[in-house]
Amino acid sequence: MNKKTPRESQVESRHLVMPHQANPAGIAFGGEILSLIDMVAGMVAQRHCGHEVVTVGIDQISFLAPIYIGEHVVLKASVNHVGYTSMEVGVLVTKENPHTGETARATTAYLTLVGIDANKRPTPIPPLQPETSDELRRHENARLRVEARRMLLQKIRARTPETRK
Ligand SMILES: CC(C)(COP(=O)(O)OP(=O)(O)OC[C@H]1O[C@@H](n2cnc3c(N)ncnc32)[C@H](O)[C@@H]1OP(=O)(O)O)[C@@H](O)C(=O)NCCC(=O)NCCS
Repeated sequence: MNKKTPRESQVESRHLVMPHQANPAGIAFGGEILSLIDMVAGMVAQRHCGHEVVTVGIDQISFLAPIYIGEHVVLKASVNHVGYTSMEVGVLVTKENPHTGETARATTAYLTLVGIDANKRPTPIPPLQPETSDELRRHENARLRVEARRMLLQKIRARTPETRK
């Protein structure tokens, strides 16, 4: 299978926060932002592997700055790391005031998605070829997270009674 660079599948999208997406204080719901994150990560993963994909995990997310009604939500997403059937996609979310142009980082998220075949089972996906210094740094950081997730899952599974597996 031919290698693909992160650049080949990266996605950038922009959304306007509308009143129905916000709480009474005029701040976008976390779930709305999460939905945008999941959608953009799915598109990146589809573009990388050329298959349908499912999200298998989302790392802990912190909302660093409130995003208000009328502000723009800008999402930049790319594949950081690829396993055999799974991919880690990183999503950087910034908010932008359309009147002043002022921007601020709102959140960063890491998602694991799996390429699936027609039977909805995991299927092999193209390896990743990071090229730029940013891509190489993201790849190395993602490799550490992938290892940490695997170790955590193994430890939790080992402690889970057979009846609950
Ligand atoms: C994703 C799914 C197909 C994986 O099936 P599975 O039987 O666990 O498959 P595997 O054990 O072979 O794991 C497949 C890959 O996912 C990875 N994976 C599985 N569980 C994981 C988890 N909790 N976190 C991170 N990675 C995980 C495995 O490490 C493996 O990666 P690799 O092939 O790159 O080494 C299955 O769990 C599923 O359908 N889940 C529901 C997905 C869903 O409905 N999402 C919401 C809508 S998109």
